[in-house]
Amino acid sequence: MREFQASLIPKPSGWSEFNFPNKSEIDLEIGCGVGLHPIRYSMENPERFLIALEHTQMRFEAFSKRYESHNSPSNLLPVQANAIHWITHFVPQSSISRIFLLYPNPYPKKKHLNQRWYAMSFMERLISVLKPGGELTLASNLQDYADGAKVSFENTWGLRTIEKRELTKKDLESGYRPRTHFEKKYLLRGDNCWNLRVQKPA
Ligand SMILES: C[S@@+](CC[C@H](N)C(=O)[O-])C[C@H]1O[C@@H](n2cnc3c(N)ncnc32)[C@H](O)[C@@H]1O
Repeated sequence: MREFQASLIPKPSGWSEFNFPNKSEIDLEIGCGVGLHPIRYSMENPERFLIALEHTQMRFEAFSKRYESHNSPSNLLPVQANAIHWITHFVPQSSISRIFLLYPNPYPKKKHLNQRWYAMSFMERLISVLKPGGELTLASNLQDYADGAKVSFENTWGLRTIEKRELTKKDLESGYRPRTHFEKKYLLRGDNCWNLRVQKPA
């Protein structure tokens, strides 16, 4: 693993005045796509505050429209930014209770495996923003992504596995509500998905 050097990460433009929210339970979602999970999560958890990051213009615009059509929940902050840059510059250490990485880009080719989140040196910084006892949830439709993440979270990053759950089309049939568009697509077409929850030691 490369050593993570925050000084090499460029400062995001247009966010120089950002003040980190003064709330007790702050969660972070990375790569939220068009925003199905952040909207539902913030409405179901009014006592929590979610910062949801998406860097592509098209997906962020769809997320923004969804946010407005749901009356702009006051406990949700949509952010269009590269999560690596934004988190590095704006998120204090030990400030986040839960992190969501739902269906990240899969990078299935061997030569790209080091671009998976769990294999990046940025994980060191990401784990540093979690509170002790805080949780990270990662979902993937690739078993080798979930397996690799579990090994790496436990052995490299010192996290403890709380749950590794397989999701299948049967879950859909018995009433499971997919959290994201990708999860829905994968389960409908018969792919199995894995949901991994890990915890930072208290
Ligand atoms: C496969 S999509 C999944 C989207 C959504 N989570 C879902 O399950 O429907 C992965 C998303 O992560 C976003 N993404 C990847 N790297 C990112 C980064 N460094 N910062 C912010 N978003 C990122 C991509 O733009 C894309 O929308």
